[in-house]
Amino acid sequence: MAPKEPIGVIGVGWVGLCTAACFAELGHPVFARDILPEKVESLARGEVSMHEPGLPELVQKNTERLTFTTDMRHVLDNAQLLFCCVDTPPTYSGDADLSRVEAVIADLGDSTDHAIVMKSTVPVGTGRSISRRREELGYVSNPEFLKEGSAVEDFMEPDRVVIGANDGSEGFGDRVATLYEPIGGEIVRTDVASAEFIKLASNAFLATKISFINEIANVCEELGADVNEVARGMGLDDRIGPKFLRAGIGWGGSCFGKDVLSLKQLAGNTGYHFQLLTAVMEVNELQKRRTVGKLQKHLGQLVGKQIALLGISFKPDTDDVRDATSLVLAARLHGEGAHVRAYDPVAGDRARELLVGTTLAGSALEALDGADAAVLVTEWPEFAELDWAGEVKARMATPLVVDGRNFLDREGLRAAGFTYEGIGR
Ligand code: UDX
Repeated sequence: MAPKEPIGVIGVGWVGLCTAACFAELGHPVFARDILPEKVESLARGEVSMHEPGLPELVQKNTERLTFTTDMRHVLDNAQLLFCCVDTPPTYSGDADLSRVEAVIADLGDSTDHAIVMKSTVPVGTGRSISRRREELGYVSNPEFLKEGSAVEDFMEPDRVVIGANDGSEGFGDRVATLYEPIGGEIVRTDVASAEFIKLASNAFLATKISFINEIANVCEELGADVNEVARGMGLDDRIGPKFLRAGIGWGGSCFGKDVLSLKQLAGNTGYHFQLLTAVMEVNELQKRRTVGKLQKHLGQLVGKQIALLGISFKPDTDDVRDATSLVLAARLHGEGAHVRAYDPVAGDRARELLVGTTLAGSALEALDGADAAVLVTEWPEFAELDWAGEVKARMATPLVVDGRNFLDREGLRAAGFTYEGIGR
């Protein structure tokens, strides 16, 4: 068998490590560079600190093909395709902060026979601007569509792989396409700007889909319909599809908020007012806060009330708390004078500094002890498995549950004497 093309990965955060480990698993020698020596050293020992199912195993299994280094020269000497995986957080203006991308470009020095393969989410036009300045470098856009909690699976079984290359870089585009051939999934070849846009438009559309169903849920509550039934009936239409129609207390995570804002700003910078996205964001912010009203409906003033938050991470199977609904909700409840106790199976440590006026509990039962209400924020399976009718009910001061993800057994809880409030039901 012909040797597999070596690849470079620049920036070993969550996207970079998934990319490095998966390409190593596919048989490629991978040279992964990060500027943080401690991170590089622990990864070289096979230690993975982030909670991502299957990822530690993949890193440990492929140590021979994975080189972690702080030395860009070492990467440049060994690989021509350089996957740029540094983060691009929003700035105060809502535009993407490209300083880390720029630092990578600067670190490439005067190299000429390399191509940047951009995995980081960047504004449309970034590739063109980099290529203008660095004509001697190849440039390929290859956005990531990985979901936290299933990133390894998403990488290995993608719905599609998007590869954007302009004139002069098609050869590099072909080489990137070859890397993905063994894993299947339709390969979409486009120009760079369109590839960049596919990423932003996809995330903005997914966020729109959720904000849409959340508004439907809010109207369901007024009209006496059940949003789960409405979503099921809608989702069977091929043109709509069943996914991303789960109503809840709002979307979070590191991507949706930043990408929706980035697209809105990008359009705004051209003089175009992207009205829909303004609403998508506003609906989401209001959705996070609606729980407060639901609690007040049953408890009146929340001053001095004990509220248990079940789940802190922005979704299950991750310890990521970036833009998590729990953070906003905890701060709001604290603002109303409530005593908030929160529990999460894995995200507690990461959230400690961010949870305003909140006590971290060591278990769900501890959080629920003496509580006037439980709010299910994240649908971790262990919360469905609690002995609600027995132990939980005995511990709570008031048997009131706000199920922010329509996740618990509504009928079972009601039969056990709980007051149950879902979303849109
Ligand atoms: C997202 C995109 O899905 C992925 O393609 C991109 O690369 C990164 O951003 P991720 O942030 O991991 O991935 O989260 P995702 O699983 O998409 O969920 C985002 C948020 O939406 C979560 O807070 C989740 O709870 C919420 N959500 C999702 C809903 O409220 N309802 C749904 O129907 C689906």
